[in-house]
Amino acid sequence: MKGIILHGGTGTRLRPLTYTDVKQLLPIAGKPISEYALENLIEIGIREVNIVVGSTGSEEVKKYYGNGERWNINISYTYQEKPLGIAHAIGLTREFVGDDNFVVFLGDNFLQDGISTLYRNYESHNYDGMLALVHVRNPEQFGIAEIDGDRIIELVEKPRQPKSDLAIAGVYFLSPAVFDSIDQLKPSGRGEYEITEAYQDMIDRKLKIGYSIISGWFKDTGTVDDFLDCNRLVLDRVSGKSSVTTSLRNVSGRVLMENDTYISDDSRILGPCFIGHGTRIENSYIGPFTSIGSNCHIKDTEIEDSIIMDGSTITLSKNFNLRQSLIGANVNITMNGSGSRTFKLVLGRDSKMEL
Ligand code: TTP
Repeated sequence: MKGIILHGGTGTRLRPLTYTDVKQLLPIAGKPISEYALENLIEIGIREVNIVVGSTGSEEVKKYYGNGERWNINISYTYQEKPLGIAHAIGLTREFVGDDNFVVFLGDNFLQDGISTLYRNYESHNYDGMLALVHVRNPEQFGIAEIDGDRIIELVEKPRQPKSDLAIAGVYFLSPAVFDSIDQLKPSGRGEYEITEAYQDMIDRKLKIGYSIISGWFKDTGTVDDFLDCNRLVLDRVSGKSSVTTSLRNVSGRVLMENDTYISDDSRILGPCFIGHGTRIENSYIGPFTSIGSNCHIKDTEIEDSIIMDGSTITLSKNFNLRQSLIGANVNITMNGSGSRTFKLVLGRDSKMEL
């Protein structure tokens, strides 16, 4: 079994952050979202991983994951020049896949329970392909699978009259048989080679296409709100691993704090939250569901339910709050003013803001 993690795409819904950053490397609790996917692949015993990179930030992805030795695995790369669709990205990995079965993970998707159960299901049924499905409340807005017994019989994109509430999640179990299906695909109405059409073609070719229903939560972090939601869900299960947590009286709840953090006596940290190494918090309140990256400086500021990326400096003044904000790396926000306000900000890397 081999693994593939997609890091291409345009990420229009996460602009401005995706003008400069690869969305799959945006951090959740101090780690790129795609690293959770990598850990899921490693958990099921995969040692050969290929990362498909696109034109934005491919060097950053390579720099972060390298040749995989940090995880004791082999990581190689495939370059997708244009974001022509998930099936197109998978089609480029044919040489890497060879004769093996493989699993493709969308690098911005998150599965609470990992993929061990899905993998066992795939292996035990000897499927030619398998989809991970998740119950949704609004099936009209998703790619939906119609099932019969342990097989998928039809896939419909955003059906007007859905025949099930089972949406397709971003983890695809496949055999090399998919490449013949990808070869005959034509671009869809939105100009992409669609993975659902490749699966439908395999179904039409009478290949054995199964499914596994995801039990824990599943998150596609393609939008700001979904990204913050995923941050909340991940932080919710963060356990206070740091010894610092217990020795500071002004830190309570489950707080994961890295080395060399400084929390001034007049600050208050209320978990669950994450604070990266080298970060200074002064005269501030950091409330639940906040992830603060490394080497940040937060002063005179109240933050809740937000992500602040590495190297950012935020100095507001009393009575001003940041909520549900997504602040890119090396952002500088300073406040010159008074009054009482709550801000909801989405700022890309290197932004500067004087309020
Ligand atoms: P999407 O989120 O559907 O597309 P996108 O990344 O272009 O974002 P947006 O819709 O906001 O513009 O992509 C799902 C995943 O697949 C994501 O991790 C990126 C990846 N992907 C590729 O690697 N190559 C591609 O050609 C496409 C379309 C997506």
